[in-house]
Amino acid sequence: MRGFAGPVALADRLEKSKAMDKPVRVLAKAVRRRIPPGRLRDLLHGVPLGEPLHPPLASVSLGCWMSTAVLDLAGADARAARLLLATGVANALPTVAAGLTDWSSLHREQQRVGFVHMLSNLTAFSLFSASLAARLRGQERTGKILSFTGLGIGMLGAYLGGHMAYRQAAGANHAPQVTHLVPLGWHDLCPIRDLPDGRPVARRLGYIQLFVLRQGDGVTVLADHCPHLAGPLHQGRLVMSDGEACVVCPWHGSTFRLADGSVRHGPATAPAPTFETRIRRDGTIQVRPGLT
Ligand code: FES
Repeated sequence: MRGFAGPVALADRLEKSKAMDKPVRVLAKAVRRRIPPGRLRDLLHGVPLGEPLHPPLASVSLGCWMSTAVLDLAGADARAARLLLATGVANALPTVAAGLTDWSSLHREQQRVGFVHMLSNLTAFSLFSASLAARLRGQERTGKILSFTGLGIGMLGAYLGGHMAYRQAAGANHAPQVTHLVPLGWHDLCPIRDLPDGRPVARRLGYIQLFVLRQGDGVTVLADHCPHLAGPLHQGRLVMSDGEACVVCPWHGSTFRLADGSVRHGPATAPAPTFETRIRRDGTIQVRPGLT
């Protein structure tokens, strides 16, 4: 049976359209420059939370504005509607900052949809702000018209946000579901003598690819696909971050601790799956999924 193609077909077309690539490129570069790697950037990505910060923040503003519309329709207390409207407007600033930060480290197709998502939401934000101003001046009717218009445009923005999250998997964890893909127990990987010393390489284990780093007689093994957008970690740089040995993803710079795969720096918010290792007497490396 054919699916309903309307809005999703439009969003798919948006992904492929190159019409806005120049402003997208310029804005993404400006955001990366204004919010450089560091604590603020990690906070806006949601690294301390372990998941992206933008979606829950966006839900707060949208929820406030939806509730304003319900109160307006019900003819309820105008002060309550104003309070909800103002809360949504005040919450929009951190929401935009977190969204822009995530957006600046996405694939181009995701950025194209995200750009229109942002334009819709900025338009909605302007209308809600104008609505609040009108209501504070006592122009209740104008305020209601402005906020209903804002809600309609905000719904378009929300739809495109959903498209990015669920169809384009922006913000999702792209690390392989190791427990579903690797049977329990130990598995032979390769002879230790086949590995270069001090340089990560990729090795396959069943369905998944692994990041394998030999350092002398020790071996570190992580899932090779970066949790952010599946970049190849074995092509990343090895660095020391706060005294911890880490690997930096070559695509957008997410930094993972080698000891346990935890995130030191975003945009990734989920850890890289780890594997326990042991070496048999004949020099064969064996691995099994880690407990972390
Ligand atoms: S794929 Fe984006 S940081 Fe790794």
